Amino acid sequence: MTIKVRARQVNRAFQVKNDLGKKEILTVLNHFDLDIQEGEFLSILGPSGCGKSTFLNILAGLDDYDQGDIRVDQEVLQKRSFDRGMVFQSYALLPWRTVLENLEIGLEIRRVRKKERREIARRYLGLVGLSSFANQYPHQLSGGMRQRVAIARVLAYQPNLLLMDEPFAALDAQTRETMQIELLRIWEADKKTILFVTHSIDEAILLSDRVAIMTARTGQVKEIIDIDLPRPRTEEIRSSVEFTRIRQNVWGLLKDEVLKAQNYARDCAEL
Ligand SMILES: Nc1ncnc2c1ncn2[C@@H]1O[C@H](COP(=O)(O)OP(=O)(O)OP(=O)(O)O)[C@@H](O)[C@H]1O
Ligand SMILES: [Mg+2]
Repeated sequence: MTIKVRARQVNRAFQVKNDLGKKEILTVLNHFDLDIQEGEFLSILGPSGCGKSTFLNILAGLDDYDQGDIRVDQEVLQKRSFDRGMVFQSYALLPWRTVLENLEIGLEIRRVRKKERREIARRYLGLVGLSSFANQYPHQLSGGMRQRVAIARVLAYQPNLLLMDEPFAALDAQTRETMQIELLRIWEADKKTILFVTHSIDEAILLSDRVAIMTARTGQVKEIIDIDLPRPRTEEIRSSVEFTRIRQNVWGLLKDEVLKAQNYARDCAEL
């Protein structure tokens, strides 16, 4: 099996000011290792603040790392690449562009011709159920709709490595379920590599080939669970015995880390 991304001993620390105004070093990722296979759907679960977005930002070329080695397709990670696409925790749409024009951004960078660009953008907008909003501006949409535009935009771009940072967190429950199945359908059609961050155990299990569970900060991969559920996956699978068994296993591993993160936050508040 080919390795798409290999991260070894990655460290990332930020200089921050504590509440007394003193400079401090906040180590976020410490000896972080992760392999992502070509074509796999891998999710990361971990407590808030453990470094999930930090790692995705590094992979997307938006942030630096201090130490370690990251390879994409065996090459040292390049900051600029047309090969990766990211859906952010917040929507990151350009407010001065219409919905359709937002969808075209990546295609413009790739120098796809205007007519083809429009066609692709319209197709993906249809896929997220927003065809009738093509000519509106982001501020005219609800939060959930904006996030669907952001998802459609990255899908339209068709990157080989798709980085998704809690892409469905802002969606209502019904839309979220529809989008999960839609994303699986798109992924199953062309099997691009997806790295997906979520706080939802069920979502991670439903979507993924493997789920990586991170420790509380400083963030490392604690364990990786294989999700041996048959594909294509459907909503019904959530009620299967096997799904429940995996959920218990994942929660068992995650629970301690969530508690550690919460205790740390409380200790800081009491100082
Ligand atoms: N640019 C930055 N400067 C200073 N600190 C930062 C910066 N980016 C992230 N951090 C800190 O690094 C830690 C990890 O942040 P990160 O956004 O990676 O967490 P996360 O795992 O994505 O959490 P969440 O689940 O809440 O999104 C946090 O304590 C955050 O405050
Ligand atoms: Mg985050």
